[in-house]
Amino acid sequence: MTTLTRAWLTRSFQPFTFKNEYDTKLAFAECKGLGLYVHIPFCRQLCSFCPYCKELYNAKVCDEYIDHLIQEIHIVGSQLTEKKHVTSLYFGGGTPALAAGRIGEIVSAIQEHFIITEGIGLELHPDNVNGETLTILRSAGVSKISIGIQSFGDKYLSILGRKNFNLAQISAALKKVPFETVSMDFIFALPGQTFEDLKADIETAFSIGANHIAIYPFIDFTLTNSTIKPMGKQEKRKQLDDITLYCQTIGYVRDSIWTFSNTPSAKYSSMTRDNFLGFGCSATTLLHDQFKINTFSVTEYQKRIDNNTLPTSLTLHFTKCQRMIYYLFWTAYSTKVNSQEFEDFFGVPLKKIYGFELWIAKKLGFVIEERGTYRMTLKGAFYYHYYENYYTLAYIDKMWGIMRHEAFPREIIM
Ligand SMILES: C[S@@+](CC[C@H](N)C(=O)[O-])C[C@H]1O[C@@H](n2cnc3c(N)ncnc32)[C@H](O)[C@@H]1O
Ligand code: SF4
Repeated sequence: MTTLTRAWLTRSFQPFTFKNEYDTKLAFAECKGLGLYVHIPFCRQLCSFCPYCKELYNAKVCDEYIDHLIQEIHIVGSQLTEKKHVTSLYFGGGTPALAAGRIGEIVSAIQEHFIITEGIGLELHPDNVNGETLTILRSAGVSKISIGIQSFGDKYLSILGRKNFNLAQISAALKKVPFETVSMDFIFALPGQTFEDLKADIETAFSIGANHIAIYPFIDFTLTNSTIKPMGKQEKRKQLDDITLYCQTIGYVRDSIWTFSNTPSAKYSSMTRDNFLGFGCSATTLLHDQFKINTFSVTEYQKRIDNNTLPTSLTLHFTKCQRMIYYLFWTAYSTKVNSQEFEDFFGVPLKKIYGFELWIAKKLGFVIEERGTYRMTLKGAFYYHYYENYYTLAYIDKMWGIMRHEAFPREIIM
């Protein structure tokens, strides 16, 4: 299904071919709407359901890694002689808050080459949410935080193999140290989970200091050792529709397929950027004509940096239509696509390339058009979410599965 859709939308049977090659200079000088991402792959506990590039935390290993990360930032950043404006900087992982004491140094390295205009975001495990860590992060310039709650219910934490946490400590810390965005992550469509369970989670989140929430459907990655049984399609759809309607009725704003906020200015998304530069193991970089992904191996990553070379493992050079589809897929994640922005990016009208597909999408009730902006309907959002699940399993699962075991695969064709 993904192959046929890809061939139709990219107007070609040419697959996505990721090769073990890389450009020593990255063409980001002219990129508008550039975002930055930094990956810190260490966690105190490795959750069996989680597909991300991560390993057990060790203070010495983490410190060495960060020394190399700072070098990578300088290798890439010094390709430009003037500071470049970027929208945002997001720290993901793993659990970047475990390196709270060194975030300031990383931000300073970034600021030697870039000017961040929309703030700095960082992910925390609930165990990291205490006054001391939040104060350190705030003084390092972090303005948005995302906490991986997953569920407030002991039953679902136990299904996920996660320990319960100290709710009073989290609430007190959030009161003491304010952030522009406090986002909390939840996983839904877990065995036995009901709409009432999710509603209670959402309300607890907003009552203890969140102003933004991300509700991810549980994805059963084959690359993980998870034994959690995924929910059936219909039940999952009902749960997604119920949560969405509940959030909308109560007045929470949907700012992407899986995120809602009770404060319009609260935003947390590292994904919906036109272009981005990624630093660290497994970090991806998306530019006008290419996508590259760094090696997943901490050791091999550091070896490359020691040789003053980029730690790229694979590069994909896009055809024009492949890049358009990539753009539309991730822009649609925000539940809307603006024709003018597409035209500004590609220099060609959206309707000229995808007029027929948009017409079908309107007829099927997936989108509505309002003065040049295509907005996803509830039905459209479900099908996007459904397709995204296929995409994740067909592309990300396969690629990350290989890259976990091979630092520099020769080629991956998808
Ligand atoms: C890097 S983690 C967040 C920070 C921190 N490491 C933690 O776990 O609290 C990113 C988020 O991905 C989501 N996630 C991980 N594995 C998932 C899966 N199999 N299905 C759906 N969401 C998943 C979780 O909601 C998690 O909070
Ligand atoms: S969910 Fe978070 S803590 Fe658990 S392994 Fe993934 S990144 Fe680490």
